[in-house]
Amino acid sequence: MKTVLEKITEYDKRESRDIIEAAGKIIREGGLVAFPTETVYGLGADALNPDASKKIYQAKGRPSDNPLIVHICCMEDLERITAYIPEKARKMAKAFWPGPLTMIFEKSKAVPLETTGGLATVAVRMPSHPAALALIRAGGGYVAAPSANRSGRPSPTLAQHVVQDMNGRISMILDGGPVGIGIESTIVDFSEQIPMILRPGFITTDMIQDVIGEVQMDPGLAAPDSQLPPKAPGMKYRHYAPKAQLILVDGVQKKVQEKIRDLVEKEIVSGKTAGIIATDESCKNYPCGIVKSIGTRSDENTIARHLYGILREFDEMDVEIIYSESFLTPKIGQAIMNRMLKAAGHQVIKV
Ligand code: TXA
Ligand code: MG
Repeated sequence: MKTVLEKITEYDKRESRDIIEAAGKIIREGGLVAFPTETVYGLGADALNPDASKKIYQAKGRPSDNPLIVHICCMEDLERITAYIPEKARKMAKAFWPGPLTMIFEKSKAVPLETTGGLATVAVRMPSHPAALALIRAGGGYVAAPSANRSGRPSPTLAQHVVQDMNGRISMILDGGPVGIGIESTIVDFSEQIPMILRPGFITTDMIQDVIGEVQMDPGLAAPDSQLPPKAPGMKYRHYAPKAQLILVDGVQKKVQEKIRDLVEKEIVSGKTAGIIATDESCKNYPCGIVKSIGTRSDENTIARHLYGILREFDEMDVEIIYSESFLTPKIGQAIMNRMLKAAGHQVIKV
């Protein structure tokens, strides 16, 4: 299959509108289109067409028990795909939609089990990216979209990442430039008595509590090797795994840097190629190894934005081991560390 790559940056221009219209037609006819959202690039298909959903699993190489998020472009469209909308979920929608929030509801009959991985619930998100909203409308209103990476690779934050993973597998890629947030949406499950966070993201626990009061964190998230599986099927897979072994070093900054310097020196002496994930502030403190800055500690959003890109960059080099500082920053830090711990297979050195 030939994959067409189309640049869409000025959404109000006629040319971009025509491209999005053509992309919407592909989706309405059961095909696949990758598109930018504010979190990561998504791989879209008609969520109400079981055959189209199946194509997503094939293109990604994704296990079929891992459900998809249905993307909508207006609140009225939520009714058709859900059996019941709790009042607290309406409040959340008012506060955070369109935006990086996914909510889980009991599904209606309109949603095929192929889209929900066999579950009786459906995950729904209204993204804020203008190209995403326009595409959802043009595609018929209900676009199932996982992150547009091959299963097991870091989520794409640039159209070029999608090209790397999906070229020849899908009909079209819409290039809207780099994404704004860089990690996937926060998922909150409203099919539980007390709403439960299944995946941390840009919308933090504090922000959610301010709107609906009590919220719980999925206990399966905190326990890497326990019997408790995470409730979001996708969170159990070792995603985002770079080719090199990744090890996090956690503690007071000065000690972390000393430890990483030490470890990297030893790796180099033993003949290995070692990478370091540092920040703009700490880069200069590492004399050896391949040092990459993930962003600045003065703006934690830069760290989230560059995380997946950096893992892909290291993948392209012959790095055997990567040591990373840890980034438990005040707000999005919980989400950053959730993704990094998974990428590292929970290997952490405490200093
Ligand atoms: O930011 C995002 O959410 C991006 C963009 C493209 O919107 N999408 C995304 O999709 O991250 P994906 O498929 O990579 O991750 C969806 C996660 C998976 O962990 C999946 O198991 C979980 O959501 N999920 C989907 N439906 C669910 C359901 N009904 N119950 C529990 N977990 C669900
Ligand atoms: Mg994903």
